[in-house]
Amino acid sequence: MTIGIICAIPEELGHLKEALDGPELLPVAHAEFVHGRLDEHEVVLVGAGIGKVNTAMTATLLLDRFQCRMVVFSGVAGGLDPALSIGDVVIADRTIQHDAGWIAEERLHTYQAGHVPFFNPTDRLGYPVPEALIARLEAALERIDLPPLSKAAGGDGSSPAIAYGTILSGDQFLNCEATRRRLHAELGGKAIEMEGGALGQVCEAFGVPWLDIRALSDLAGASSDVDFGSFVREVAASSAMILRRILPVL
Ligand code: ADE
Repeated sequence: MTIGIICAIPEELGHLKEALDGPELLPVAHAEFVHGRLDEHEVVLVGAGIGKVNTAMTATLLLDRFQCRMVVFSGVAGGLDPALSIGDVVIADRTIQHDAGWIAEERLHTYQAGHVPFFNPTDRLGYPVPEALIARLEAALERIDLPPLSKAAGGDGSSPAIAYGTILSGDQFLNCEATRRRLHAELGGKAIEMEGGALGQVCEAFGVPWLDIRALSDLAGASSDVDFGSFVREVAASSAMILRRILPVL
């Protein structure tokens, strides 16, 4: 059965689109869904656009209209964990919508999307990926050799690391060192992006597995706007490579 693949922007999508065999274009709303075979696996690939609403909309279509049995996001993120560098990859074992919650005393208190503590409280925060699925990925990726970040991009020749952990999602591009430090301290995220929390919410509602694979294009601090533009295309190749490596175990 078909696997759905979502990317937000052309720089992420291009690496996968060029590898598709027998592409058949199926436009719906603002998005172009491409049915085809990726390394002999049947997939529907879509460029959703940036943000949680675009992701929720395209994930719903992948599940309801295209009957996908799983949805994987492949793309880039900003790094939050100081141990990680541009070019490293984070695979979510949980995503959290860090911009959902309630505002009191002039600040946002992150809470599970769709809930507030005084009306429909919940103990949950975010959307977990089953441990058994993460274990299959770890085994499949044990010996992968990701291309080192180019010298021109500041790479030192070492292979990028792959980390597993929480990824934060919100409808904001993070370009602020203080907020980056606060989010990492309060929510423990290893990376931040604008889609994975919506993917988790939609797939959980359908009872379908999902994954969020992100190569770091920037470190979400003061220079993240410039770094993003410089590195997005190059590092997105790593998330696409990882996706292709894990397809047989999904
Ligand atoms: N995607 C890539 N870099 C990001 C950042 N700094 N903030 C949000 N999403 C991102």
